[in-house]
Amino acid sequence: MKLWGGRFKNEESKLMEDFNSSLSFDKRLYKEDIKGSIAHVKMLAICGILTEEEGDIIVNGLNSILEDIEKDVLLIEGDYEDIHSFVEVNLIKRIGQVGKKLHTGRSRNDQVAVDMRMYTKEKAFEVLDEVKKLMETAKDLGQNNNVIMPGYTHLQRAQAVTFKYHMMAYYSMLERDKKRLLSDIDIMDESPLGCGALAGSTYNIDREFTAKELGFKRPVDNFMDGVSDRDYLIDIMATFSIIMMHLSRLSEELILWSSKEFDFIEISDEFSTGSSIMPQKRNPDAAELIRGKTGRVYGDLVGLLTTMKGIPLAYNKDMQEDKEGFFDAVDTVMKCLKVMNGMLSGLKVKEDNMYKGVKRGFLNATEAADYLVNKGMAFRDAHGVIGSIVLHCEENNIAIEELTIETLKEFSELFDKDVYDFVDYNKTLNRGIKEHIGKA
Ligand code: ARG
Repeated sequence: MKLWGGRFKNEESKLMEDFNSSLSFDKRLYKEDIKGSIAHVKMLAICGILTEEEGDIIVNGLNSILEDIEKDVLLIEGDYEDIHSFVEVNLIKRIGQVGKKLHTGRSRNDQVAVDMRMYTKEKAFEVLDEVKKLMETAKDLGQNNNVIMPGYTHLQRAQAVTFKYHMMAYYSMLERDKKRLLSDIDIMDESPLGCGALAGSTYNIDREFTAKELGFKRPVDNFMDGVSDRDYLIDIMATFSIIMMHLSRLSEELILWSSKEFDFIEISDEFSTGSSIMPQKRNPDAAELIRGKTGRVYGDLVGLLTTMKGIPLAYNKDMQEDKEGFFDAVDTVMKCLKVMNGMLSGLKVKEDNMYKGVKRGFLNATEAADYLVNKGMAFRDAHGVIGSIVLHCEENNIAIEELTIETLKEFSELFDKDVYDFVDYNKTLNRGIKEHIGKA
């Protein structure tokens, strides 16, 4: 069932019809498509392009289609070219001749452009909500587990931090993601409805009205750009990719920490899986899947960037390829944010093992060097002295703070009793990341 055909002599091939149809995936735009059409028709009536009565009949027809779709009375299926054809053909079926006036002063090019922007904007707010929830969960988890743990560089124990501080690093990343989402929303918040196919319309239409009616800040400036701009999708998919990159880094840490080698955390049963052969296994599949799906979201971004790179102005059918990738990206990022939230909510932190990791790692060695610097030694020399002390400790299986003052003095006369206080982990945390250990 087509909206065109007048200028053709022969039927379109079935193969081409299938190849061309986007209904199977753009059906999820039905609400935006109908709302966009309602705003358009209201505008046509206000501008005197349709009579008030015609406007009312079409709006009622569109509302009845929306209702029937939501009640599953009208199923979005069949050999329609896309969701726009589906709605228009069904409207004409329902209200007859007057339905044929719906598409006055409009093209499917500005129609699909406005549908996608509305959909994307709504989804961006949903993702924003999930990001905010995850931020709170990460913060709570840290606050409830304000315990000392090893901080790493090169995945080697480096200096002491707290688990809370570690979680707050992710909080900061998500905070930036939040800002990126808000900025993407701000940029996409312009209505392309009224751009027509590419050069506007000969009717005296009111783009300000439809923009306002559909919740946009303003109409777009340029018609050719308005119908062929997909930057906003690329923007938001770049943001999704960064969110996924952050989730993936956290996933990687959860996977490492839950291994017996680290044994810092336990992921709850709800978000763990077992092995079909090894009865003892407890696998962090949720975290691995998030890490894996990150590649998929990057792929969606790169896919659209590549699709767009050689397209001349204005609309080209290539742009229909924006949808599946975007839908996949937004579905994936939403699911991953929710699963990460669930995983963090039930995470058990093994405080004792984290502390053991700190003790065994000489994580106060840098502070011990700073101590000697405070007593007058040059840092490079202090670094050498503490290096020898660490070697001695390793050979004797002892921690720096467990050495007697006599032994320390063998390495440098500058050591005094106050060194024990200086390298105490609580004190080093307090001087460095300004964190006190203890339940907040
Ligand atoms: N399904 C099309 C898309 O998603 C709708 C726009 C069609 N426009 C056209 N001139 N054929 O891009």
